[in-house]
Amino acid sequence: MTLRSLTVRNRLWVSPMCQYSVERRDGVPTPWHLVHLGSFARGGAGAVIAEATAVLPEGRISPQDLGLWNDEQADAFRPIIEFIHSQGAAAGVQLAHAGRKGSTFRTWSPDQGSVPVDAGGWETVAPSAVAFPGYATPQALDDAGIAGVIRAFADAARRAVTAGFDLVEVHAAHGYLLHQFLSPLSNHREDAYGGSLENRARLLLEVISAIRDAVGPGLPVLVRFSATDWVPDGWTIDETVQVSRWAADRGADLVDVSSGGNVASAPIPVGPGYQVPFATQVREQAGVPTAAVGMISDPFQAEQIVATGLADVVLAGRAFLRDPNFPLRAAAALGLDADFGPQQYHRAPITAR
Ligand SMILES: Cc1cc2nc3c(=O)[nH]c(=O)nc-3n(C[C@H](O)[C@H](O)[C@H](O)COP(=O)(O)O)c2cc1C
Repeated sequence: MTLRSLTVRNRLWVSPMCQYSVERRDGVPTPWHLVHLGSFARGGAGAVIAEATAVLPEGRISPQDLGLWNDEQADAFRPIIEFIHSQGAAAGVQLAHAGRKGSTFRTWSPDQGSVPVDAGGWETVAPSAVAFPGYATPQALDDAGIAGVIRAFADAARRAVTAGFDLVEVHAAHGYLLHQFLSPLSNHREDAYGGSLENRARLLLEVISAIRDAVGPGLPVLVRFSATDWVPDGWTIDETVQVSRWAADRGADLVDVSSGGNVASAPIPVGPGYQVPFATQVREQAGVPTAAVGMISDPFQAEQIVATGLADVVLAGRAFLRDPNFPLRAAAALGLDADFGPQQYHRAPITAR
């Protein structure tokens, strides 16, 4: 799979997954991240995309999230990227701002909802002062705040390139800040960033342009959308198609199509490959390469998606957590010769049939 100057060895990539595992220094990767991300590269993934990584401290989901708002964080990513490269995989990072869904306890914490400011949390920001159920009410961003967000995405992308990442993904899904601007349910602004589709998409498009300027012409830029809010009056697949076209015009190379996350109570018909039709629709109607994601864990299902043109790339999350060797095992199941198993394990080839 080739995007701009990057060629990736296969089309089965690791979807970004928060680990909530930062320990002492805010946003700085630890040995956990090295082993976690490195294991997928060793197991044969084409590209490994690191978790939602905050572009500003207040853009973290939890206090334990990774960040790229300073050089210490970028430097700590280097050995992780070097290891991923040593295994023949490409390294990516998802750049994120959590907006009103920031400052929360990590998923397995006995506490839920917002972390109080006096316990390591922070005041959150959003397009409008509308709380996500169960979380603190955010402050609406003013013009200076919006400009700061755009600059922070660009600066983080620049640091990502310096650290050695091969691609960046903009997180505009799952109810986080950029999705909050896109969806009329969370964006009640009456200025140039709210109202019409053009206005709701303005921040995302300005972020993409700023990132493209920051990373230069060679580096692929992906955008993750939630294709739908899954409720009437919410963000829709047709809007996703239109904004994908505009995103491509601004220099985005591939649209990663997820769904949901902005409406706590939305009824989502989860099942194997349930988001694939959205990726296909964006691919066909916007003419942009897409990644399909969501409950794709069977090698034949994954193969069918890329072989029949339903999407260009398959991203998997939990299948990799369960088995970091998923791609090598998939290659064996499909009868393919994958020549990238670790030589150190030659006495126990994962691809043995
Ligand atoms: C532990 C965990 C953490 C996740 N963190 C992120 C994240 O940081 N960014 C994101 O866009 N999606 C995140 N997701 C969603 C996954 O990227 C993926 O879209 C979702 O799990 C569906 O794919 P799967 O069925 O292959 O796991 C996370 C999922 C899991 C299981």
